[in-house]
Amino acid sequence: MKILGIETSCDETAAAVVEDGTTMLSNIVASQVEIHSRYGGIVPEVASRQHMLSIIPIVEQAMADAEVASSNLSAIAVTNGPGLAGSLLVGVNLAKALALAWDRPFTGINHLEAHIYANWLGSELPTFPLLALIVSGGHTDLVLMKDHGELLRLGRTRDDAAGEAFDKVARVLGLGYPGGPAIELASKEGIPRYHLPRAWLKGSDDFSFSGLKTAVVRLADELGIPSAKHDSIVADVAASFQRAVVDVLVTKTIDAASRHGVVQVLLAGGVAANGLLRETMLLRSPIPVLIPDLNLCTDNAAMIASCGYFHLLAEKTAGWDLDVLPSLKIG
Ligand code: KG4
Ligand code: ZN
Repeated sequence: MKILGIETSCDETAAAVVEDGTTMLSNIVASQVEIHSRYGGIVPEVASRQHMLSIIPIVEQAMADAEVASSNLSAIAVTNGPGLAGSLLVGVNLAKALALAWDRPFTGINHLEAHIYANWLGSELPTFPLLALIVSGGHTDLVLMKDHGELLRLGRTRDDAAGEAFDKVARVLGLGYPGGPAIELASKEGIPRYHLPRAWLKGSDDFSFSGLKTAVVRLADELGIPSAKHDSIVADVAASFQRAVVDVLVTKTIDAASRHGVVQVLLAGGVAANGLLRETMLLRSPIPVLIPDLNLCTDNAAMIASCGYFHLLAEKTAGWDLDVLPSLKIG
């Protein structure tokens, strides 16, 4: 079963063709990062306009790379939430137009659930029951998954998402946007010698990163960052921040995984591209860990198509009234 995935929830315009939920035949991502970095963050109106310009060539490219004709597609899967309303509308409306023109079923996909499905595109398939840590720009969720379609959110962030904290701290340190890769790069030259607070929220599977972010702002101020350009001090602060975030994410995930008796831990979302998080989770978890390839952690449409395959197996298709759900939750 070959499925076309379409993703336009944020600042990546993406299309992909995936066979049987696990074999990627093509995966095209057009990033708008350069355009938004001029403004230090995503500008929603600019994002939707850019999606409109890019989406049709990107879909054509995905179909061509996969060497698939529309008559060989089983269905179309499209992200309908959460995300920026104007951006989501571009993908959802194109999916409907293609479904009508090609006479194919289509299905609406939860972007967060799809992040977990990036793990179905690797060489080893996940096993249930599993615990997924989704760490992206807008969300930090711990999700217990007993089977396809059986998801229970155990915890979430009470304030900033992990990726959002990376982005805000990078701005404070003068490292630019997007912050995650910039902090990771700067940290390679630094020593995590500053003690920064960790919000453990004992007795809860929730997270909180705003106290840590405020502590970094205060520390940066004391150290005269970024006006005084001390690259090695900036690197030390970045490394200390990265260590604190990873410490909390890994410790709390392993704790929840042990309590719920899962057989696997999955990482998902843009922050799962972070080298220290990947290494530390693999090193510290007594339960086997699966992590998507680097290019499948950040937003892409292959994960949408993979998730769509399992929706179709469960006969979950959408009608013409499918709407965008900017605040959609998981589980
Ligand atoms: O999943 P994603 O591509 O988009 C959303 O659904 O939000 O995640 C984007 C987030 C951004 O906050 C970005 O700074 C973060 O993922 N990120 C990273 C790394 N690469 C991307 N955070 C830490 N380390 C990285 N290497
Ligand atoms: Zn995402």
